[in-house]
Amino acid sequence: TPSAEKPPLTVLLCAPRGFCAGVVRAIDAVEQALRLYGPPVYVRHEIVHNKYVVEGLRRKGAVFVDELSEIPETSAPVIFSAHGVAKAVPVEAAERRFFAVDATCPLVTKVHREAEVHWKRGRTVVLVGHSGHPEVVGTMGQLPPGAVLLVETVADVARLAPPDPQTLAYVTQTTLSVDDTREIVEALRARFPAIVAPHKEDICYATTNRQEAVKVVAPKVDAMLVVGSPNSSNSQRLKEVAERAGCPVSRLVLRAQDIDWSLFGSIRALGVTAGASAPEVLVEEIIDAFAERYDVTVETVSTADESVFFPLPRELRGAAAE
Ligand code: F3S
Repeated sequence: TPSAEKPPLTVLLCAPRGFCAGVVRAIDAVEQALRLYGPPVYVRHEIVHNKYVVEGLRRKGAVFVDELSEIPETSAPVIFSAHGVAKAVPVEAAERRFFAVDATCPLVTKVHREAEVHWKRGRTVVLVGHSGHPEVVGTMGQLPPGAVLLVETVADVARLAPPDPQTLAYVTQTTLSVDDTREIVEALRARFPAIVAPHKEDICYATTNRQEAVKVVAPKVDAMLVVGSPNSSNSQRLKEVAERAGCPVSRLVLRAQDIDWSLFGSIRALGVTAGASAPEVLVEEIIDAFAERYDVTVETVSTADESVFFPLPRELRGAAAE
């Protein structure tokens, strides 16, 4: 079809979007381990929550498992995902003499250490997060059972029954909604004025910046597409942020083939962003799919610059230099 016959569509591309420094590092760790040691390289859990990334690494020889018990006796590297793991996992890896590589995002590790310090100072730790998410499982697993109390909502705060309300601290998951978390923290402070807060926000820079860009773009568009996986916490939050900012249609999509075109019939402006685990090639694929149906003009709306970089996990750094 000649472009003159296609309806016009302005695509507002949110920036920052997509890969964060923790995701880049975790993927690089698997690739570096494959280069240095050859396949197989075992990875506990999806290294980052994106099927496209996981399939790509699987084709290169990465073997993904849910638990270490699925791994046979091996000298191959065993990599822990960016979301972090409970203390029991590296212990089990050491017992089985695995060559463990910890690709936990340093910003998740920071939360783990905070929780530990609070516990050592006699405080009960309240974790604000989503039950069952691997990061939450990992953070709760830093301390003995019962030491961490999980709250997901303001209503949970009202039900909280800590052993001593005077000795409490809170930490949060790194990929939460900034606005929801503010409300939950306000409820915690109201009920437990002595509660100790993190020195520096636990919600990470990447989560915060991606939500901020969506907030600016969402009121200007008829629909928002978030490139990302349904099991990606930060991607889900981006979809919600757009909804709350008044965007009539807000959807998560993994790939162009998953787009429900019936939702986008007469739109004039589309916002596009990507979760922290979604590669830019998928953003391009989706914009290309729109360009087949619309006369697309792409504009980038940038609300922050990012320059965060994390070096490879220690276990791969020495080897990388050789
Ligand atoms: Fe780390 Fe935040 Fe990415 S915690 S893995 S930088 S989303």
